[in-house]
Parts: sequence; structure tokens; C-alpha cells
Amino acid sequence: MVIEVVVLTGAGISAESGLATFRGDDGLWENHRVEDVATPEAFVRDPELVQRFYNQRRQQLLNPEIAPNPAHVALAELQRAKPGKVFIVTQNIDDLHERAGAEVRHMHGELLNIRCMACVQIQRTSHDVDETTQCSYCGVQGQMRPDIVWFGEMPYFMGEIEHALAQAEQFVAIGTSGLVYPAAGFVAQAKDYGARCVEINLEPTAVSSIFDQGYYGAASEEVPRWVETLL
Ligand code: APR
Repeated sequence: MVIEVVVLTGAGISAESGLATFRGDDGLWENHRVEDVATPEAFVRDPELVQRFYNQRRQQLLNPEIAPNPAHVALAELQRAKPGKVFIVTQNIDDLHERAGAEVRHMHGELLNIRCMACVQIQRTSHDVDETTQCSYCGVQGQMRPDIVWFGEMPYFMGEIEHALAQAEQFVAIGTSGLVYPAAGFVAQAKDYGARCVEINLEPTAVSSIFDQGYYGAASEEVPRWVETLL
């Protein structure tokens, strides 16, 4: 099956679901500097702070008020309408795409996954994690970390993403500031491979000029509008 559309999503698609983006006006992510909570060095320096931060994010995600919005739903519909032809990759660590019914690749990991640093196995959790948490595979205690790709670590699925970008007729970036690599480089790659590139964002970004077309407004309105053009 040949991929027709590659969709890249970022924090902006989940903003209307009640999850904060990373680069708001104050430049902080939920009152923390990204470097204090999202690097391997931060985890070595202050594991309690980092675990507490992700425990809070996980509990926030599991709050019954947090739900997919029409943008997540429209992407799931698009994927269902074109089986095997719509590849969705997200920088987001929430599970709102899945809850809407889509299959996505989480290049930055998932908030509901934790990884054992002793045996490298990944397990699903909805619970808080701390130094007493035991790995359910190897039984070792105190070695569980969020399965999040932090700054300075290698994103997941890069080979598969590259392969999809090479095939796509259309590439769309939704709700991402286009500042964090390697995801920020996907538009240039897609363009080199001949794809038409579309940006959907609340407002033009620093990289808007690279795209062939832009839809500017709330993702919950603009994504369904764009999806309609493909169906
Ligand atoms: N609809 C559409 N776009 C929106 C909305 C909305 N309702 N609200 C915000 N946006 C846009 C903003 O204009 C901004 O361009 O979403 C973008 C969010 O940008 P960032 O906060 O930088 O998030 P993102 O691009 O996903 O960050 C990339 O950086 O910190 C790391 O690993 C983290 O995955 C993250 C990566």
C-alpha cells in the first residue's frame, strides 16, 4: 500500500482539548522550563521532580474532562476513509489520537508508557511512578522512567517516517511551531520528495513560507475543513 498523506501533529492539536502547548507566551511548559523536566540530565539531577512532573501530566490526561476534539476525530475519519494511505506521526505524548480512533506513531514517546532502564521493556501505566515502582517484566525496583523522548535523545520511528515521507503526495503539519528537530525538518524532506505541503495552525509560524498552502485558525475548525478537501 502506498502512503498518500503524511500528517504531523504537535501540541496545538490538543490545545482545545485542554492540554497546554509547550511554547506559550510565557515560554514555560506547565510552569517549568523544558530543560528542567525534559532532558536526561534533568532526570539524573532531580529524578523526583521529573517523575512528579510526568505523574501530574499523566493524571491530567486521565481527567475525564480531557477528550479528543473535532481535529482528532477528523484525522481518524480520514484514516478510515483511506485505509493504509494516511500515515499520522505525532510529537504529542497524549493518547487523544487513539481515543478518536486513529493509529499514530508517537515519535516522542507516550505519557502512558514507562520504560525499565534495567531491562528496556516498556509497560503501560495509568499510575504514578516513583523510586519504589517495580518493573513488571524483570522485577527490578527504582529503574522505571517515563517513556518520553527527551531533548538530546533519538526520536522513535525515524526510518518508518522517512519511508512515508518519500511516498506522500501531501504532507500536512498541524499545530506545531516547527522549531524542534527532526520533526521541523519533515516539511523540507517532503517537499524534496515532491509532496504538496500544507500548514494548519492558529497563526502563521516562523516556517510558514516553506509550505505551499496554509489554513490559519483553530485546529478544531481548520482540520475538518482540510480533511473535507480530501474526501
Ligand atoms: N489550533 C491550531 N494550532 C494551535 C492551537 C489551536 N487551537 N493552539 C496552539 N496552536 C499552535 C501554536 O500557534 C504553535 O505554533 O500550536 C503550536 C504549538 O507549538 P509548541 O508549543 O512549540 O508545540 P510543538 O510544536 O508540538 O512542540 C514540539 O517540542 O518541547 C518539545 O517535545 C516537545 O513535542 C514537543 C516539541
